[in-house]
Amino acid sequence: MSISTSYKAEKRSNKSVTFFVCFLAALAGLLFGLDIGVIAGALPFISHDFQISSHEQEWVVSSMMFGAAVGAVGSGWMNFRIGRKYSLMIGAVLFVLGSLASALAPNTEVLIIARVLLGLAVGVASYTAPLYLSEIAPEKIRGSMISMYQLMITIGILAAYLSDTGLSYTGSWRWMLGVITIPALLLLIGVFFLPDSPRWLAARGNDEKARRVLEKLRDTSEQAKNELNEIRESLKVKQSGWALFTNNKNFRRAVYLGILLQVMQQFTGMNVIMYYAPKIFGLAGFASNAEQMWGTVIVGLVNVLATFIAIGLVDRWGRKPTLILGFLVMAVGMGVLGTMLHVGVESMGAKYFSIAMLLMFIVGFAMSAGPLIWVLCSEIQPLKGRDFGITVSTATNWIANMIVGATFLTMLDSLGNANTFWVYGGLNLVFIFITLALIPETKNVSLEHIERNLMSGKPLKNIGD
Ligand code: BGC
Repeated sequence: MSISTSYKAEKRSNKSVTFFVCFLAALAGLLFGLDIGVIAGALPFISHDFQISSHEQEWVVSSMMFGAAVGAVGSGWMNFRIGRKYSLMIGAVLFVLGSLASALAPNTEVLIIARVLLGLAVGVASYTAPLYLSEIAPEKIRGSMISMYQLMITIGILAAYLSDTGLSYTGSWRWMLGVITIPALLLLIGVFFLPDSPRWLAARGNDEKARRVLEKLRDTSEQAKNELNEIRESLKVKQSGWALFTNNKNFRRAVYLGILLQVMQQFTGMNVIMYYAPKIFGLAGFASNAEQMWGTVIVGLVNVLATFIAIGLVDRWGRKPTLILGFLVMAVGMGVLGTMLHVGVESMGAKYFSIAMLLMFIVGFAMSAGPLIWVLCSEIQPLKGRDFGITVSTATNWIANMIVGATFLTMLDSLGNANTFWVYGGLNLVFIFITLALIPETKNVSLEHIERNLMSGKPLKNIGD
């Protein structure tokens, strides 16, 4: 073989290794989505089989988010100790166990425990996979990785809705929950072949191994060497999140901003629709099971498609205008839907109009807060406190998610249908003002620049200037 052909072959194999690695980490995003989506279609059948109250249904839904919050907090420590690869492996084992246990649950109590287990898996995956991706992806595509990860989540949600709908004709919720074992097993098998993250290896003083991994992932030895040098350079900044949090008020502001961003994302009310879509279709006058299930599939599809808008807009329009537009669209969608439920959805036209409002809300979320909040949360933390800041904001995402999931049916029962949607519509309006007053624009600004502004005490709104 001539030198040039062997070089080409090596190059191709490097590309396929990188692709395989990114594919597997993205599979973790897919599982995250599958587990969020699957409960919407299964819940009506579970409630029927186990004869459970609204309150117990809320617990079946939100027990997973509780597990995910715990999983995300534990992941920070676990990723530090055992690395990304073995953390993902533990996540995959929990996925398999949680899926099987929830499919076989003999009663509500066991189902709730099984969903906490699944939640732990989702928490570990939602923390580890993006971290791993950002450490392993070549620089050129690193930026779009977070949006891609969000896309995988939405595809997972859609896939779960489709499989739920296919299975709904027999009403077999156990199969709905059980089929997720298959992608979970795929992840588990795939993770065995994953290399450890070069950054983590280098952080543990294992430079030789880190170099070998990079050689496999990058096109040339030169690139691998340069990247290892960069990693070494950046590792000189030691993570000291907790210490920084207790004694630096500028860093505290970034942590609080991360919390605020995630609370805003969740209190848009997006997951009310993700978890209870068939129920909402029922409120809007679609009585049959098939209508509710297919309607839910359309919600999932619109969510995937609108995520592409965000991928196109983030770096052109910037974060702030996109967010403001998104909150406005969501406020209108929720507000008008509430009004429709208030005046009563009787005619065919009114029914379809209500659903159009629901879909408009989904577009508003998927084009803005869905991906953008994750992007912002990863951009605002200074290097020294990144791990800590991101752990706190990710855990907040799950806690707020749990609160939303655990209160929706109670809100419908106590406030009434219209008021419930109006509350979410109103919150989205408030978020427009919060965005104007507090959220920075970070488009085309280097992370070092943001950090300098933050740490010198500039108002949060201006740290991207
Ligand atoms: C949110 C999830 C939500 C999903 C919907 C994510 O960004 O964090 O809570 O279910 O988007 O697409």
